[in-house]
Amino acid sequence: MPGLRSSEKKLGQLSGIFRDAQAFRGMDPDTIVYRVWWWEPVPGGTEGGLFWGLTEIQPGSVGDEYYMTHGHRHAVLDRAEFYGTTVGEGMLVLRDESGRSWFEAMKPGSLHYISGRVAHRVVNTGDVPLRFVACWPSDAGHDYQIAGGKGFGARVLRQNGKPSFTLTEE
Ligand code: 6PG
Ligand code: NI
Repeated sequence: MPGLRSSEKKLGQLSGIFRDAQAFRGMDPDTIVYRVWWWEPVPGGTEGGLFWGLTEIQPGSVGDEYYMTHGHRHAVLDRAEFYGTTVGEGMLVLRDESGRSWFEAMKPGSLHYISGRVAHRVVNTGDVPLRFVACWPSDAGHDYQIAGGKGFGARVLRQNGKPSFTLTEE
C-alpha cells in the first residue's frame, strides 16, 4: 500500500528523557523501546487529510521509570488526535499550555481525545507490549521540544511494584 511507513525508537535516541541518567548509561543504547507503523494516504502537510498509526511500546524501565514514548505537541498547534488502546496497560500523560499535567489510564478499548495544543506521551506500565492506534491530521507535524527534562512536569514511576503518577518540579 503506498504511503505505509514504520520507524523504531531505541534507548540511545531517548537520551535526556528518563530521569535516572546513571541507570540509562548502564543500558544497551540499541534496545528497542517502541515501534510505530503508520499510513500516510496523502502527503504530509495536506490540509484536511488524516493519518493512521499503530504504536507498540515494549515493557521495561530505566531505573524505576517505565518505558515511554518521546512525547510531543503537534507543530501546527491546534491539531487534535485520537488514541485507542488495543493491547496492554499504560498511561497517557498530557500537558496543556498553562503547564497543567494530568494522565488518562490506557487499557484495551480505552479511547482518548487529545485536544490541540496539548502535549502527549504514552507510558507502558504493564508486563506486555502496549499497543494503541492513533488518528491525526496529515498537516499536524511534530514538535519534540517539550519532551526533554522539564517538558511534561510529570513522571510515571514504579513505586512498591505499582505505577504512580508524580508531578515534578524539574
Ligand atoms: C502522532 C502520534 C503518534 C506518535 C507515536 C510515537 O502525532 O504521530 O501522536 O503516532 O508519534 O506514538 O510517539 P513520539 O512521536 O512522541 O515518539
Ligand atoms: Ni501526536
